[in-house]
Amino acid sequence: MHPMLNIAIKAARRAGTIVNRASLDLERISVARKGPRDYVTDVDRAAEESIVETLQAAYPDHAVLGEEFGLQGPEQAEFQWIIDPLDGTTNFIHGLPNYAVSIALTQRGQVTQAVVYDPSRNELFTASRGSGTFLNDRRVRVSSRTRYAEALLGAHWPRSGDADAGGGRFRQMTENCSGVRRMGSTVLDLAYVATGRLDGFCGLKLKPWDVAAGSLLIQEAGGLVADLDGEQGWMDSGNVLAGSPKIFTQMLAALQPKQD
Ligand code: IPD
Ligand code: CA
Ligand code: CA
Repeated sequence: MHPMLNIAIKAARRAGTIVNRASLDLERISVARKGPRDYVTDVDRAAEESIVETLQAAYPDHAVLGEEFGLQGPEQAEFQWIIDPLDGTTNFIHGLPNYAVSIALTQRGQVTQAVVYDPSRNELFTASRGSGTFLNDRRVRVSSRTRYAEALLGAHWPRSGDADAGGGRFRQMTENCSGVRRMGSTVLDLAYVATGRLDGFCGLKLKPWDVAAGSLLIQEAGGLVADLDGEQGWMDSGNVLAGSPKIFTQMLAALQPKQD
């Protein structure tokens, strides 16, 4: 195993322990609002602190970009970690066990290592560029389903109105598949595409820490990640389309405006 992946796993498991402990007594958690429908708890912060501490102890020259504390270290560092200490905070606050810790490493802007850890199910998703994707110790691949009518998609749009944006573009994509799930953790949705539990995913206005690790999990599992036009640049725009090659292609086609 790549040593940097090993450190990332250690950091993710430690953060997972913090999250699991806190989940036993949700009444004690202090919750603050960062914006409409955007919450942060002391658990998010404690988990991020713990991850940063583990990463920086091993790699003091690396930069870290975290959701809660922003960028630490040099902006132009060759290696930058991108972390979401708790993705699915709203689920967590409600005691709904669908959330995860996400840690990605970029080297000169390219994601090379990825860890997603679901502490409530003890599921660890990992990938190193060029070495495949694993769930716990088992190699996984994206789904082999080919018929769009049978595809199950994950989705994230911040407000329900966004699903109608672009002249019904999204409706065309979602109406013809088998089902769409909005489960509240983009990080887990992407990990589930990588393991074939979901056939595809579409999300809008996401942040780098929501998608960095999941994108490598999907690519190393044989899937595709792009923006809604099939181009790169999704990490900056936050608009992400992902899936197995067969389903991705059909999602992309369904998203294109119909010519009259
Ligand atoms: C959120 C989750 C959610 C997505 C939001 C994210 P957070 O992350 O990924 O699925 O819909 O856009 O902000 O705030 O729980 O880390
Ligand atoms: Ca997130
Ligand atoms: Ca978060």
